[in-house]
Amino acid sequence: MTVNVATLRRDLEANNGMPGLEILRPEEVDAAVRIFYRDGFVVVRDVLTADQVKFLRRGCEREAEAVVAEDPNPEGRYRYSYGGASITNSLLHREEWVMLVDLPTLAPIVTAIFGSPDYHVRRAAGDFCLPGAMYQRLHTDIVDRVGGFSDPRGILSIRDLPCPAVCCNFLAQDFTKTNGPTRQIPGTQNSREKIPELDEEPLWMKYSTVCPAPAGSALIRDLRAWHGGTPNLSNEMRAIPNAIFLAPWFHERQLPAMPREMFDLLSEHGRRICDSVVADGPLETGYTFDPARIRKFA
Ligand SMILES: [Fe+2]
Repeated sequence: MTVNVATLRRDLEANNGMPGLEILRPEEVDAAVRIFYRDGFVVVRDVLTADQVKFLRRGCEREAEAVVAEDPNPEGRYRYSYGGASITNSLLHREEWVMLVDLPTLAPIVTAIFGSPDYHVRRAAGDFCLPGAMYQRLHTDIVDRVGGFSDPRGILSIRDLPCPAVCCNFLAQDFTKTNGPTRQIPGTQNSREKIPELDEEPLWMKYSTVCPAPAGSALIRDLRAWHGGTPNLSNEMRAIPNAIFLAPWFHERQLPAMPREMFDLLSEHGRRICDSVVADGPLETGYTFDPARIRKFA
C-alpha cells in the first residue's frame, strides 16, 4: 500500500498523542508505581541529565551505523533491534548502556515497582528506526515459553502473573508527533484478548503514542503491555535504547554480556542486579545478521 506522506504528516500532527498522558519526575515514586500498575507503563522525565542524553545519543548513532553496516539487506528496512543484531543479545559492553542499568534516578522506581531491590538485569539494548519507518504491528515483548514462564498444566499464562519484567526505554531525543514515538495501549498488560493486526487496529490505538516527551525521559513499561512503533517522518534516526529488569522471583538464564572491569565500576546496587550478566572470560562482541553467529546457550 502506498502511503501519502504529506497526508499522514497532517493527520499525525493533528491527532497523534495520548490524551491525558502524565509525565512524572523521578522523585514521584509512588505516583509512578500507581500509574505503572494501572496502565502497564509510565513516563518519567529527567531520568538522564542533558550531558547523559548527549553521551547516549552519540553512542546510539555510532552503534546504529555499525548495525546497519552489517545488514546484508538494508533496502526497505527501517527498524532495527540493537540487541537482536548483537552477538551477546546486549550492549552491556558499551559504557552508554552500562550507565542505563545503574541510574540513581531510576533505581528507586524499579525497586518500588518490584517491592524489592533484589531484581536483576536481563539485558540492555533497545531499538532504532530510520526516517521512513511506518507503523509496526502491536505486540508484547514477552510470551510464555520454556526457559521463561510456562505452566505445564496449560492453566496459567504469563499474562496472569504480577509484572515479571520491566523495560525502561530511554529517549535519546525528544518524542514528537512525527518522529516515531512508541504507541502504548493502556491497561493491556494482563489482557488475554487477541492483539489486533494493523488493518484491524482502531484509530485511537494508532494515535495512542507517548508524545510529546522530552529527551532524557524513560518510558517504563511492563513487557506484556501492547505496544508498537509508529511512523518516523523526521529526518533523523529515532533511538530508544533500553535496560530490562526481571522481577526478583522471575528467572531466565542470561548470557554473559558485561566485561568484569565495567561491572567493577558499578554502584553496590548495580553490582547486585548485574550479577547474572557479568563475564569473567573474554567476550566476543559485534553485530551480525547471521543467526548462526548469535550466541545461544550451550
Ligand atoms: Fe516491542
